[in-house]
Amino acid sequence: MVKKRTCVFISGRGSNLHNLILHSRNNSFPVRINLVICNNSNAYGINFAKKHKIPYVFINTKIKNFENKILFHLKEHKISFICLAGYMKIISDTFIKNFRGKIINIHPSLLPKFKGLNTFSRMLKNKEKVAGCTVHYVNKKLDDGKIIIKKNFLINDKDDELSLKNKTQKLEYKAFPEAIIKIFRNT
Ligand code: GAR
Repeated sequence: MVKKRTCVFISGRGSNLHNLILHSRNNSFPVRINLVICNNSNAYGINFAKKHKIPYVFINTKIKNFENKILFHLKEHKISFICLAGYMKIISDTFIKNFRGKIINIHPSLLPKFKGLNTFSRMLKNKEKVAGCTVHYVNKKLDDGKIIIKKNFLINDKDDELSLKNKTQKLEYKAFPEAIIKIFRNT
């Protein structure tokens, strides 16, 4: 199987990146992680790229034309698929046009509920009974594109923001690889 050359975008801890790297070592997993883009020079997640000898690039997303720089690196590494894994920056429509249908994102809620930031505190405030995560295609609206996979769990009385985050992330480590397998299953 020819694996899709894939770039993962991160901003922080990178635990989803790490999980995808581990899955990509499996011969039957449809993608290989060939590049990591990071917009935070303090992001712990970059250590996973270093450890697994995956090329990585820091991009300052505060400068003009930063997306052109990203596109340059994606082209240089012949990237055909992009996973946003905790990348805390909205992707422009122009950028998306270059990779239409080839960018996916993971979000820590059951979309379309709780788009954006502070998902867990808003869920608790709203007295939600169910939480979870969603993997979806990226379009020009925030946390909005076609849904590929959702996974959920029941919230209990003892749950707080931290426990919700931990439980959600456990599900994310299943959902992200499953979504990728689903996308490439028939190609
Ligand atoms: C993940 O929980 C992901 O769902 C969330 O950031 C976290 C990154 O964790 N993404 C968003 O909130 C995007 N809207 P990680 O850096 O350990 O993979």
